[in-house]
Amino acid sequence: KDGKSKLGEIKVKPVNYDDKITEVYSIIRDITEKNRLEQKLAEYHEQIEQSYEDLKEAHRAKTEFTSNITHELLTPLTSIKGYTELINDKMIGDINDDQKEKLQIILRNTDRLIGLIRNLLTVTELENNRLELQIKSVSINGTIKKILQDIQPQSEGKKLSIIQNIPPLPEICGDEERLGRAITNLIINAIKFTPEKGKITITAVEEGDSIKISINDTGTGIPVDRLPFIFDRFYQADSTTSRKYGGVGLGLSITKEIIEMHNGIIWAESDENGSTFNIVLPKQN
Ligand SMILES: Nc1ncnc2c1ncn2[C@@H]1O[C@H](COP(=O)(O)OP(=O)(O)O)[C@@H](O)[C@H]1O
Ligand SMILES: [Mg+2]
Repeated sequence: KDGKSKLGEIKVKPVNYDDKITEVYSIIRDITEKNRLEQKLAEYHEQIEQSYEDLKEAHRAKTEFTSNITHELLTPLTSIKGYTELINDKMIGDINDDQKEKLQIILRNTDRLIGLIRNLLTVTELENNRLELQIKSVSINGTIKKILQDIQPQSEGKKLSIIQNIPPLPEICGDEERLGRAITNLIINAIKFTPEKGKITITAVEEGDSIKISINDTGTGIPVDRLPFIFDRFYQADSTTSRKYGGVGLGLSITKEIIEMHNGIIWAESDENGSTFNIVLPKQN
């Protein structure tokens, strides 16, 4: 009309009548606008792809930073813990009861920090799919014994009685450090959510091709409507208890992931008398 050329698209459709083509319909469409939009769409697509690449790079940098910083935090803390234990165990000289009490507070808090950092490290590994299990033969008896030694300052401080119902069990295939982390998180929770002078019972039994481990406490319990969510990352059953007890809601999510990586299952039961966390692990993976 105005002398300018435009892009067009022609659609032709023959009309059959008695096997003969009697008519031809054709539609001519101006596709200048369509082409412009398609070009824009391609540009947006490229921009989104670039943003995705940038995001992946930022995520990688963040993960690497978290991994480095957690290692850097662990090294001095391990040294602080080691020397505090030396003094606490009177290896350097005599200490009085008051000093011992204060050293135990230092140890408890150091352990809490170390536990938190180890969980952060595991989350980073899980996020990055870098957590490859180091499968070996694992003694559940030995693992639980070691955990109970490690957490002694925390249970002693609250005068909790810890009862073990564990016969000698056959070794299972698994990642010793990660299974230790998973069970530690459950025992630490039991300690954390059980008031002074409470009772924690650790039971382990062989059940066919599996080993079942249960950790029962006489603590606060978990409301039934919250039970389905407690294994979610960052979930805390009660925001008022999280303020009272601290924590970040990572422990159970990590524990569940580790147990499931071992083809095991985990579930919780709870009522007003306390909570029980159960794990069933296959002996062979
Ligand atoms: N033994 C327990 N007794 C009562 N509540 C528990 C127990 N274990 C876990 N919970 C609840 O589940 C939530 C999630 O636990 P977890 O992932 O270990 O996070 P955190 O210990 O950092 O709060 C806790 O905040 C608590 O509300
Ligand atoms: Mg916890």
